Amino acid sequence: MVTTSKDHENHYAYATNLSNIQASNGCLSIQIRKHNVALFYHNSKVYAVDNRCPHMGFPLSKGTVKDSILTCHWHHARFDLKNGGTFDQWAGDVHSFPVEIRNKNEVWVDVSSIP
Ligand code: FES
Repeated sequence: MVTTSKDHENHYAYATNLSNIQASNGCLSIQIRKHNVALFYHNSKVYAVDNRCPHMGFPLSKGTVKDSILTCHWHHARFDLKNGGTFDQWAGDVHSFPVEIRNKNEVWVDVSSIP
């Protein structure tokens, strides 16, 4: 299947402004298409992951990010913020979403993988 740049644009949904994430101590929980997504501003980039920890559902927006590792505060599972990969196999990977910054301040999230 051939994808065009228009297809690419249509996969993205506006989430919020970058300044809103920065003003929320670098983490903002939002809903996109009825899906809870945690947005993190870390090392000058924005990352988006499912806000539900794959282990037992604790909100990852209440976790901690250090050195690009997101740690859930319930049982301390750790995830690579860049791709959602877990460092603790018992927890599983968290779904991550590609992010684009448009017009210098708009955060757009690729929602094509949201059912
Ligand atoms: S719910 Fe996140 S580590 Fe258990």
